[in-house]
Amino acid sequence: MSMENVPFLDMEAVHAGLEDEMVAVFRQTLKSGRFIGGPKVEGFEAAFASFCEVPYCVGVGSGTDALRFALIAAGIASDDRVITVPNTFIATTEAITQSNAHPVLIDVDERTFTMSAERLTHYLEQECAKETASGQTREIKSGKRVAAVVPVHLYGQMADMDPIIELANAHGLIVIEDACQAHGAEYFSKKQNRWCKAGSMGNAAAFSFYPGKNLGALGEGGAVTTHDSGIAEKIRRLRDHGQSKKYIHEIEGYNGRLDALQADFLTIKLSKLNEWNELRQQIARRYDNLLANVGDIVTPFTPVWARSIYHLYVVRTQRRDPLKKYLLDHGIETGLHYPLPLHLQAAYEKLGYPPKSFPVTEKAALEILSLPMFPSLSESRQERVIEHIKEFYQSPV
Ligand SMILES: Cc1ncc(COP(=O)(O)O)c(C=O)c1O
Repeated sequence: MSMENVPFLDMEAVHAGLEDEMVAVFRQTLKSGRFIGGPKVEGFEAAFASFCEVPYCVGVGSGTDALRFALIAAGIASDDRVITVPNTFIATTEAITQSNAHPVLIDVDERTFTMSAERLTHYLEQECAKETASGQTREIKSGKRVAAVVPVHLYGQMADMDPIIELANAHGLIVIEDACQAHGAEYFSKKQNRWCKAGSMGNAAAFSFYPGKNLGALGEGGAVTTHDSGIAEKIRRLRDHGQSKKYIHEIEGYNGRLDALQADFLTIKLSKLNEWNELRQQIARRYDNLLANVGDIVTPFTPVWARSIYHLYVVRTQRRDPLKKYLLDHGIETGLHYPLPLHLQAAYEKLGYPPKSFPVTEKAALEILSLPMFPSLSESRQERVIEHIKEFYQSPV
């Protein structure tokens, strides 16, 4: 792309200033001959646990591994119902299905696009019943146990965790945060009367270090954060074929480990994460201000309880497709997160949710547009994006 053009994400710029440090750790690792696990991984785990304000972090092979292992380690059993949203990346529901559980979808909030506490209340109170003796909640139509809820902190903004946790506690549910897009996001908990970091509020949380994330590896990577030493210990085994010691397998596990080299790269990049997140926040403020009265654009809603780290900057418009095309014709890349809700994907026909099941998600899927957002997005390139959006609305329909 020429300087005139604006990419959706500029991966090269992210690493430009870190090249020497990254090459140095690559040489060290090459000489060490230790490529999987070991002190590099442990060092990163300690640093990321401290960043997320939790006692434990376990590095794994991807965000999907992190979600799957967190669910299994938290005790999800075969056929359990696990509640999440249709407006997320498929990994959230893949992890549920691959833990032998069954995803139950509920719609998102109209303004934040994250799990609606009202819809969750409705599902738990109208479609489930709590057994007095066991304290367990069962879905009435299937008779199955409802075991967990997975709120997704979408686009860098946390879900409304206080009511979700309160409902989960009242119904005996485990809470696993999908924090794969929310490294460093914060939520003001009225209950705790303080700002809480993403990954520190549920029983456990999953992070992805896919390269394009706010904290991304140079390949695949993920982590689980938790306050629960039992969950952390179980995940250490699950990620390494169930081993407690070499070739001693008390359980069957997976190959889901974090590479030493990726842990090194992540440790270097973690030291920049707060600075990068602040740059994203400044870019978001500029978009918010300059797009405030442009056409029918609706800029992202940030409730008073949220500090977003803008993994994505997602606007809404009724004229999404023509605007996307106009921007691309003028060298500006945009994205759609996500164009087809999960319940309408062929892979999930088996869940049996017909179109119109989740009106908020389905409407959003037609109106959302993710604008270029990355820490090194210059003011001049951002102005180009804004100027072209203004031009689009000024041109005759
Ligand atoms: C919301 C969400 N959940 C889960 C994942 C899965 O992460 P990974 O791609 O590292 O497996 C991602 C990232 O792609 C994501 O955005």
